[in-house]
Amino acid sequence: MATLPSTHCCRTYSSSLSESYSSVHRSLQRVAVSPSPQRFVSAKVSLQSQSVSQQNVVSMQDVAPAVKPVENETAFKKLKDGLLSATSGSVEESKDASGFSFEESESTVSITVVGASGDLAKKKIFPALFALYYEGCLPKHFTICGYARSKMTDAELRTMVSKTLTCRIDQRENCGEKMDQFLERCFYHSGQYDSQDHFAQLDKKLKEHEAGRIPNRLFYLSIPPNIFIDAVRCASLSASSGNGWTRVIVEKPFGRDSESSAALTKALKQYLEEDQIFRIDHYLGKELVENLSVLRFSNLIFEPLWSRQYIRNVQLIFSEDFGTEGRGGYFDNYGIIRDIMQNHLLQILALFAMETPVSLDAEDIRNEKVKVLRSMRPLQLENVVTGQYKSHVRGGITYPAYTDDKTVPKDSLTPTFAAAALFIDNARWDGVPFLMKAGKALHNKRAEIRVQFRHVPGNLYNRNIGTDLDRATNELVIRVQPDEAIFLKINNKVPGLGMRLDRSNLNLHYAARYSTEIPDAYERLLLDAIEGERRLFIRSDELDAAWALFTPLLKEIEEKKIIPEYYPYGSRGPVGAHYLAARYKVRWGDVGLDQ
Ligand code: BG6
Repeated sequence: MATLPSTHCCRTYSSSLSESYSSVHRSLQRVAVSPSPQRFVSAKVSLQSQSVSQQNVVSMQDVAPAVKPVENETAFKKLKDGLLSATSGSVEESKDASGFSFEESESTVSITVVGASGDLAKKKIFPALFALYYEGCLPKHFTICGYARSKMTDAELRTMVSKTLTCRIDQRENCGEKMDQFLERCFYHSGQYDSQDHFAQLDKKLKEHEAGRIPNRLFYLSIPPNIFIDAVRCASLSASSGNGWTRVIVEKPFGRDSESSAALTKALKQYLEEDQIFRIDHYLGKELVENLSVLRFSNLIFEPLWSRQYIRNVQLIFSEDFGTEGRGGYFDNYGIIRDIMQNHLLQILALFAMETPVSLDAEDIRNEKVKVLRSMRPLQLENVVTGQYKSHVRGGITYPAYTDDKTVPKDSLTPTFAAAALFIDNARWDGVPFLMKAGKALHNKRAEIRVQFRHVPGNLYNRNIGTDLDRATNELVIRVQPDEAIFLKINNKVPGLGMRLDRSNLNLHYAARYSTEIPDAYERLLLDAIEGERRLFIRSDELDAAWALFTPLLKEIEEKKIIPEYYPYGSRGPVGAHYLAARYKVRWGDVGLDQ
């Protein structure tokens, strides 16, 4: 039997013991209060299975003959009997002193990708699941099921999925073999998203694959928001796990303002407990965003500087060098503020600015993030600049305007760019501008966090720096993507007999420092959901606070029909963003020559 490299696969958090203890403890508390028969798995069963699934994660998957999709009851029975006799001798032998059967105590995870033929599933979810499998991070027993409306056979799903799988770390061996093993664990079920019957058939199929083990079920809703609730209702009533856990990953948009988001949460909670809902913000799964807290809380040199006393401004920058090509229909209803700022950038801001949490426990971290969000000053329209890209010809190529997209109304005012100045009215951050900038069809693709520090008071070397003091402040840059890096701009003496200073980088360039490839955000988040780790998922009160901040602004922009500033496709965006920054004596860090 081949074995997977049982290397670094699944991570250990230093606090994992206390985490699992506290989540179990919380589950216990819930048992006492609110098991609801209508909902997915009661808290009681999720408690049982949590401890079992922990064991599963610790013991890595083996590559025991993959449980092939089973076509009928007889074949299934044969397979099951065969497996039992091959692996465990008699069932009797596998009982411990208390008479408890180890065989029965084994659990399995069924991951159903609802919306399996969509772009996200193909580009991100299946590849991430394969990467987890490849790394030996999935539990020993798992099954992946694609669910969508189109008719497809298992073989067709496998062909579709196989086209997007890559061997991320191409030097590793046996990738093709592992792909085959992975694909054997994938099967397909065709059904409507609002049909309980179809989900009941799915349930039956899942049961066959679960082969009598404790079934844990993860549903990944990769479908448009208007069918979320139907799918959750049907999955809940017809396909939730009987005696294991059931979790649901939901993708944004979580509504388009406070009201619709609250309505969505309310509807979800008819069928799910809050801790079964995993609201994904994939930016939280990015390596450098995850590293933000490590950088700050485990290096003495940063934490003491992390306040208004030393930090002059913080910049959160997102740019893409392509437009909404193909996604105009979705995008026009949301715009860049909802698409990027209200979630990805705001989440980073909250992590950046939070107080030290009591522990790494998900609730402790999310409590601190919520406090930041609730301390934020209401956003004023005058602190926001919006833009929309227009057509541009460069090098003989015509780049389209946003409104050239056939799915976008010609008179659309939806912003494809926005810049905003935000403030956190608490003791740590009073008066420090947090500047956000997000845009599509700009000159580059980048996401970064820039922290500009104050001037050194009475700097002895001012003369050697020249007159532009702005250029002499230290700046910490966390480049989330691409080409991940952390660098600190310092003033340094240019070598030589004279005394000339320049600005140089202390540079941690990931590609040069680490040989391991950086996992995709979806890998981390899927693994977290399987392990029941909620730290990187958005809790409903966080979501409420985020919407409370942006909803009045969004309404005002829409009611007043604010005309965006037009910028050419492929440019650096509207000039208004510079005026906005200048109002707070800030210079965007990404525009200089030495970025
Ligand atoms: C999504 C947005 O959440 O994030 C997209 O809806 C955007 O508009 C995407 O393109 C960017 O993600 P990434 O990981 O490619 O930076």
